[in-house]
Amino acid sequence: MQREIMTEKGGLRANLQSASAAAIGRAAALIRAGGLVAFPTETVYGLGADATNSKAVARIFEAKGRPSFNPLIVHVGDIRIAGIYAPLDDRAEDLAAAFWPGPLTLVLPRRPNSAISELVSAGLGSVAIRMPAHPVARELLRAAGRPIAAPSANRSGHVSPTAPIHVAEELADEVDMILAAGRSEVGLESTIIDLSRPKAVLLRPGAVTREQVEAVIGPVDTASGDPDRPTAPGQLRRHYAPSTRLRLNAETAEPGEALLAFGPALLAGRRADRVLNLSERGDPTEAAANLFAMLRTLDAGGHRGIAVMPIPEAGLGAAINDRLGRAAAPADE
Ligand code: TXA
Ligand code: MG
Repeated sequence: MQREIMTEKGGLRANLQSASAAAIGRAAALIRAGGLVAFPTETVYGLGADATNSKAVARIFEAKGRPSFNPLIVHVGDIRIAGIYAPLDDRAEDLAAAFWPGPLTLVLPRRPNSAISELVSAGLGSVAIRMPAHPVARELLRAAGRPIAAPSANRSGHVSPTAPIHVAEELADEVDMILAAGRSEVGLESTIIDLSRPKAVLLRPGAVTREQVEAVIGPVDTASGDPDRPTAPGQLRRHYAPSTRLRLNAETAEPGEALLAFGPALLAGRRADRVLNLSERGDPTEAAANLFAMLRTLDAGGHRGIAVMPIPEAGLGAAINDRLGRAAAPADE
């Protein structure tokens, strides 16, 4: 069933299909034929292609306007399939057992002669692998019978999509199909742990917290180094960026600003143009799920700026603050 969808930008047409069994079957056939399919995961929507088909993978970079030195995550439906492409050491086995399927990506050494396209690894000797939990993603992986390379389904540097309409607004003309299944439950991209070297490194915070990872494999380093020459370009100082200026840790919004609130916000929002609350009850998990959609909405509102209330670092707060910090970084850095 092909539907015409209307977006805030007006009248976009996209091959947006609700994720019935039949639609998932068509999506799987498209993947096998080298097509591009946007699909739901529990973190954010992904822009998927057959990870073993370099031509198809090249289309991902083209569609996103993504620098080709930025490697992609390979999605698999089963831990044994991960093992075909990368050897899993004890740490990887233990983390996979604890958190897969789920919002955790492991960077592992590539097997020599791996069938995964070199483009996916962007020339690195490693490959990032994740087994998503979303039932539609899992069924798509099963039906396609291929590992699926998928970055977030947004234009490079933009905010990640947490609903099918976000994908349609940015990539309607580039994708062969958008498999729609409502909002992404987690709302932030997966946690990335680099296990390709002796000491594990947290490359990107996410829903699986550092504390949870450390409880399984012991102490984990924090990605350091030059933010302009990152190991994971998710580390770029400015990323996940709306075009409206963000003012973080704001106590109150100034006239002309919208307020992105967290917790009770009556006073902070007094002078605001508009108030959206990430979580009135101050729950970081709820806030994470709302973050990108609310940033998009406020970014489209033509406000002078967006004031963001402070968010405690506990639990998912660390990942939220990581994304907000990058979204607020000046564009010319
Ligand atoms: O939750 C997610 O991870 C989503 C969904 C769709 O699965 N995907 C996602 O992909 O966020 P993307 O491309 O937006 O972010 C992938 C990150 C990038 O920062 C990339 O640099 C890093 O993973 N990455 C991929 N392969 C890597 C590798 N071999 N070594 C280091 N970093 C890698
Ligand atoms: Mg992304």
